[in-house]
Amino acid sequence: MTTILGIETSCDDTAAAVVDDTLSVRSSVIESSIDEHRDFGGVVPELAGRAHLRTISPVVERALVRAGLDPLRPEIDGVAVTSGPGLIGSLLVGLSAAKAYAFAWGVPFVGVNHLEGHLFAPLLEKPDLAWPVLTILVSGGHSMLILHESPGVHRILGETIDDAAGEAYDKVARWLGLGYPGGPAIDRLAQDGNDKGLALPVSMTGPDFDLSFSGLKTAVVRATEKHPEVSIEDVAASFQRAVCEQLLRKARRVLDDYEVAGIAVAGGVAANSTLRAQVSALAQERDLECHLPSLTMCTDNAAMIAAAGLFRLRTDGASSWSLSADPNWSLAALS
Ligand code: KG4
Ligand code: ZN
Repeated sequence: MTTILGIETSCDDTAAAVVDDTLSVRSSVIESSIDEHRDFGGVVPELAGRAHLRTISPVVERALVRAGLDPLRPEIDGVAVTSGPGLIGSLLVGLSAAKAYAFAWGVPFVGVNHLEGHLFAPLLEKPDLAWPVLTILVSGGHSMLILHESPGVHRILGETIDDAAGEAYDKVARWLGLGYPGGPAIDRLAQDGNDKGLALPVSMTGPDFDLSFSGLKTAVVRATEKHPEVSIEDVAASFQRAVCEQLLRKARRVLDDYEVAGIAVAGGVAANSTLRAQVSALAQERDLECHLPSLTMCTDNAAMIAAAGLFRLRTDGASSWSLSADPNWSLAALS
C-alpha cells in the first residue's frame, strides 16, 4: 500500500493529511489563520505567510500522529504539496517544508496544482465513481466548468471572465457589512429571505460555457442603493439565486452537449446550500450520479492534495528538488 502525506498552504489554511492509495483519509488537520484577516476584509498575504510558518510543523505532526504514524520516522511513501496557484509567500512555506520532510525521510515529493486537488475531493468520498464527471469548481479565486474524463484527465469548458463566484460572495458580503469570508454569512441569511425580493439582471445568457460575476456584484450595490427598504435576508437570497441560476444554466448547457455519468461540485462555494440542492435536483432530473463532497472537503484541505499527489506520483513521477512555487499555475497547463 502507498501512503502519502499531503500539505496545503496556498491561502490562509495550513493543512496536512495522510491518505493511502485506496483513497482512504487516515487523518486530515486544518488550522486556519482567518481570524487574523477578518478586520482587513480579506486575506493579508504577509500575515498568512507568517501564520503558516508558525503552524506548519505542529499541523504536520498532528496529522502523522492521528494517522497512527511515528512523527519522526513515519512509514510513508511520499510527500505531496500544493505548489500553485496561490499566494507566493504562503506556497513557499508549504513547499519548503515538504521538501525538507521528504529529504529527511528519504521519500519522493511531488508538487500538486491546487485546482486539480479540488477536482480530486469527490473521489475521497467515492473512489469508484463513474466517469466522465462534470465538475462545477467554484472557489474564492476560480470559477470553472470542467469535464473530468478520468482521474487527472480534465478539460476546462468554461470559466469566469472576471470575478470568481466566491470573490463575488465576499465583495457583496463586505458591501452588506457581513465581514470576511462572506459566503457562509450570505448563505445563512439567504435561508430566511425571499429570493425574488430584489430584482437582479440575468447575466451570461450566451451559448458558451463562460461565467461572469462582477456585473452581478455591481447590480447588487445599485439595487440596494435604490431600494434600501429591501431586507438584508432578501438581498442575500436574491443574490444567491442569481449566482446559482447562472451556474445551473451553464451546467445544463454542458449536459446538453456532453455525455457524462455524473456531476460534482468542488471548491469553497460548493459548500453553498442552494447550489448543493440545485445540483442534486439537476442530477436526479438527468439520471446522473451526484457528488457533493462534505463541507470540509469542499473548502481547502490537504487530503485532496494528497489524493491528486498519489495520482501525479504514479503517472508523472517525483518532482525535481529544484521545483519552485508558481502563484499563477493554470489548470489548463496540466490538460
Ligand atoms: O476553496 P476555498 O476554501 O479557497 C480558495 O481556494 O479560494 O474557497 C473560499 C471561498 C470564499 O470566497 C468563501 O466566501 C466561499 O468559498 N464560501 C462560500 C460558502 N462557504 C465558503 N460561498 C458560498 N456559500 C458558502 N456556504
Ligand atoms: Zn481552494
